Amino acid sequence: MVIAFTREVSSSIGRCELTHLERQPIDLGKARDQHRDYERFLWDAGCTVRRLKEEAEMPDAVFVEDIAVVLDEVAIITRPGTRSRRRERLSITQALEPFRRLARIRAPGTLDGGDVLRIGRTLYVGQSIRSNEEGRRQLRAVVSGYGYSVRRVAVVDCLHLKSAVTVVAEDNLLFNPGWVDANAFQGVQAIAVDPEEPAAANALLVAGRVVLPAQHPRTIERLSRSGFDVRPVDVSELTKAEGGVTCCSLVFDEKVAI
Ligand code: GLY
Repeated sequence: MVIAFTREVSSSIGRCELTHLERQPIDLGKARDQHRDYERFLWDAGCTVRRLKEEAEMPDAVFVEDIAVVLDEVAIITRPGTRSRRRERLSITQALEPFRRLARIRAPGTLDGGDVLRIGRTLYVGQSIRSNEEGRRQLRAVVSGYGYSVRRVAVVDCLHLKSAVTVVAEDNLLFNPGWVDANAFQGVQAIAVDPEEPAAANALLVAGRVVLPAQHPRTIERLSRSGFDVRPVDVSELTKAEGGVTCCSLVFDEKVAI
C-alpha cells in the first residue's frame, strides 16, 4: 500500500512564511477545496491518503514534505530552516513512527524536505537559505549506512531545490534552467519548463502520473507532447503561500522489503 500523508490547510495560512513572493490574500475555503482536489488525485493514483488534523497556529503546516525525508529504510525528521516551522515536527514524528525507524536532524543543522530530491540511491540536497552544510552532513551520516550518497546542488532565486527541479519519470527531470544547472544530475535526461512559467518545475510523480499546477499550461503542453501523463490540478491559493505540489504530501510505501 502506498501511503500519502497530507494535512488540512491551516486557518492561519495567510500568515505563512514568504521568501520570494509578495503577500497576497489567500481564500481559505478555496485553498481547502483545491487541497481536496489534490488529495483526490492521490487517491486516484492509488494512494491511501491520511489527512493529519489542522495545526491552526502553524500557518505553513499543510506543506508536510518539508518536515521529513522518507526513504525505504529510514525517515529523517528534518530541522526546518525557518524557526516558525519547527513546531510542525511533533505530529509528523507521531505519524511516521509506526512506519519507519526515525532519525533526526539536530541543531545547528537545518534541512527542509523540499530541498531533498532522491534519484535512485543519490539524495541531491539544495544549497538554499533553508538547508545548511551541517544539515547535509547529518543527513549523509544517517543515510550513508543504507547505501545512499548525498550531493549538494546550488540553487538561485527560489525557495527549495524542488522549486527548481523535480522527477517526472524514473530517468527524467523537469527543471528551470534559471534556478538550477541540470548538469548537476548526471545520467538523467532533463526537460526545461516553458520560459514564461519559471515556477512550473515543481511536479509530483505518483504511479506514473505527473501532477502539475494548472496555472502552467505551456509546460503541461510541453510534457504532454513528450508523452507524459500529466494531471493538472488548480492549486493557485496554495502557491500564493509559496508551496508547490510536492510540498503538500509525504508519499511512501507502507511496507518495504529490505
Ligand atoms: N511558505 C512555505 C515556506 O516558506 O516554508
